Amino acid sequence: MSSYDGTEIIHHELKTGARWGMSPDEDTTDTLEAVYILSGKLTMHTTKGDHQLEPGDHVAAQPVSEHLVFTALSDSTFLYVSSKPIFHHYFNETRELELLAVNIEKKDGYTADHCERIKDLSMLVGEKMGLNSEALQKLHFGALLHDIGKTKVPESILLKPGKLTSDEWTVMKDHTRFGADILKKTNIPHLILAAEIVEQHHERYDGSGYPKGLEKEQMSLESAIVGLVDSFDAITSDRVYQKGRSKESALAEIKQLRGIKYHPDVVDTFLSIIEND
Ligand SMILES: [Fe+2]
Repeated sequence: MSSYDGTEIIHHELKTGARWGMSPDEDTTDTLEAVYILSGKLTMHTTKGDHQLEPGDHVAAQPVSEHLVFTALSDSTFLYVSSKPIFHHYFNETRELELLAVNIEKKDGYTADHCERIKDLSMLVGEKMGLNSEALQKLHFGALLHDIGKTKVPESILLKPGKLTSDEWTVMKDHTRFGADILKKTNIPHLILAAEIVEQHHERYDGSGYPKGLEKEQMSLESAIVGLVDSFDAITSDRVYQKGRSKESALAEIKQLRGIKYHPDVVDTFLSIIEND
């Protein structure tokens, strides 16, 4: 809406079900950030619990010391004021990475909405498991950008039609570490937080995954969620070179691997959502 002398006033619209967040930032300890609700209804998730917000309600923090996630319960609008013009920088850089992530998944044979699907389903699982606002923020960006590291995998490997050699497979597996590095280098708090999911989304409950072979609680719950949702989507998606399997067949496989490849609690929550779909 307007920006002057380091202060920004932004008019935001959130469609029903959409989310928006505010995160602490070490570089901006003297920043004031405030939200004023104009229309609609939102839930604000904080580390201490949830609050309902209605028109006229406002939230201010100086500085933001915890992760706040706003979920629109109906189409909503609000004003966001920041005393430092960080928002545009964060927004543009995050958006650029999201577009990059979508493009790389398309190259890898997925449809354009693969990242969005992973994000939506992961968030449903995370919310149902009662994750706090910080974890939800992490889950949102980690799910959207889980494969961003594939941008650093040479096309000769990413697009190879046949089987990968063991050296090529080693490079392919590095997309987890490459991705985490890309996010950490942005210096943007919500992306640094999400880097852990990007690094761990191919780890498996029994330690058979990569890059580190972490097992059970060594990997974060958020990573376990994205790992399961990504596997489900990979099994059921039609790719350029193969047709996806049925939802029933994918669910049977996931049930069989509950507590082996996949975290049992994540599987239970995932099934309770998907089987009622
Ligand atoms: Fe991946």
